Amino acid sequence: MPRAVARFLRFLLKYGMAPPPNPSEVSLRDFAGALVLVGAGKMGGAMLEGWLRLSLDPARVAVIEPQPSREIADLAARGLRVNPAIDLVRQPAAVVIAVKPQNAAEIMPWLAPIIGGPTVVLSIMAGKTLDFLAEALPTEAAIVRSMPNTPASIGRGITVAVPNRHVTPPQRELAHKLLAATGIVEWVADEALLDAVTAVSGSGPAYVFLLAESLAKAGAAAGLPDELAAKLARATVAGSGELLHRAALDAATLRQNVTSPGGTTAAALDVLMSDEGLDRLMQKAVAAATQRSRELAGS
Ligand SMILES: NC(=O)c1ccc[n+]([C@@H]2O[C@H](COP(=O)([O-])OP(=O)(O)OC[C@H]3O[C@@H](n4cnc5c(N)ncnc54)[C@H](OP(=O)(O)O)[C@@H]3O)[C@@H](O)[C@H]2O)c1
Repeated sequence: MPRAVARFLRFLLKYGMAPPPNPSEVSLRDFAGALVLVGAGKMGGAMLEGWLRLSLDPARVAVIEPQPSREIADLAARGLRVNPAIDLVRQPAAVVIAVKPQNAAEIMPWLAPIIGGPTVVLSIMAGKTLDFLAEALPTEAAIVRSMPNTPASIGRGITVAVPNRHVTPPQRELAHKLLAATGIVEWVADEALLDAVTAVSGSGPAYVFLLAESLAKAGAAAGLPDELAAKLARATVAGSGELLHRAALDAATLRQNVTSPGGTTAAALDVLMSDEGLDRLMQKAVAAATQRSRELAGS
């Protein structure tokens, strides 16, 4: 029996769930063009790491960044170019914009002249619309706007992307691979959805961290030493997240699986799932974040 099948069956027998997906399904080994990364901070740096994990040749990459990290500077020995002259980066296959939105205005005039021919522009800037980007770039530039989230830093993010009408299928495929280096990628056709995406997955990690904080506080209030309460809450959120990641079952089924009728979990869920409980609170929170995302995109 092939090893992959045997592993799958062992996993299924033990956990009743599928094994984690194999990240090596996507590869940038054959990427033949040039790639310009503008802004190599937390997110841009995580993307670059992901591309290298997918076997991208560093000699294909130029990084534009005022304060390159030591890791990036070290990659120069493997051919990566840091802040090269503009003439050396004209018409790359892709430009990835990963500066803060407030720095967008200063980089767009620099970027515009290098875009052309095959270039797909991939932006991860929160709130910077396809129209904003198109206005600053040559006519008919192929642009993908996307919204990643912080688990990208460990290759476990989720990104939602929206293309403009000039993006060709091969450009979309390249953008997909570049984003897949940090996790799952979903595409939508309606850019307006990105405000709600921002509110759910973009800001979502903060809600989960808050859950760990809140559970720790509740544990301390129930009499546990602070340190133990924090440790229990952290491990519970992290372990449950991992279980959710690996399990083939949906969240509701996993919840039901740890809830016996009349038991302790059921007592807590009666509170959390009451009319004034978590659903209502989460809907209010996501609505507030969606509204704020709209305001910021309009400003
Ligand atoms: N972090 C998140 O959870 C998250 C989630 C979704 C989307 N995003 C988006 O991802 C983007 C990057 O966020 P981040 O958290 O990675 O920010 P960050 O760590 O501050 O990274 C931005 C980088 O861009 C550099 N930079 C500034 N001006 C530049 C210029 N003119 N040319 C080239 N590079 C320049 C900055 O250098 P200096 O530090 O020297 O200024 C910094 O290293 C943002 O647009 C944000 O909206 C982030």
